[in-house]
Amino acid sequence: MVVNESMRLFPIASRLERMTKASVEVNGVTVPKGVVIVVPIYTLHRDPALWPEPEAFKPERFSKENKDNVDPYAFLPFGAGPRNCIGMRFALLAMKLALVMVLQNFSFVPCKETQIPLELGVEGFVTPAVPIKLKLEPRATDSFSI
Ligand code: HEM
Repeated sequence: MVVNESMRLFPIASRLERMTKASVEVNGVTVPKGVVIVVPIYTLHRDPALWPEPEAFKPERFSKENKDNVDPYAFLPFGAGPRNCIGMRFALLAMKLALVMVLQNFSFVPCKETQIPLELGVEGFVTPAVPIKLKLEPRATDSFSI
């Protein structure tokens, strides 16, 4: 839920492109064959018509009870269709493993150098404008391992 909500707010690919294989009419607009269409992922992920309180970080949007209400074409962190991300499952596994390993030992807390609100860079990929700085507090655990 947390990983999904993080990717909703900060999808690495802010947009995708596709080329029409045939002429198509969408909402009264004819898009001819061979035209490049841009899918605005970042904008879709923050559309208030699709996501109530779109700027709020709410992992519960992806809970078991709620996730069926998420339109698969409104949440596209890994794209969609036959050319979607080939590394999706590997990436999800790696992200979850990394999170678990670090969170077992540390809590992340904001510090005076933490940029709030987070400012994004202007490159093609969605990245923070400056590196995210947080304070790591060791957690009280019986065994301390990474
Ligand atoms: C959080 C991590 C990742 C994110 C958010 C991500 C996201 C994406 C997105 C949005 C696309 C375009 C999909 C589309 O056009 O529908 C893509 C394509 C692709 N990704 Fe990833 N990706 C991630 C990790 C990875 C990893 C770990 C690998 C390889 C091990 C990988 C390999 C690829 C490849 C090869 C494509 C091109 C697929 C094609 O055009 O058929 N990605 N990825």
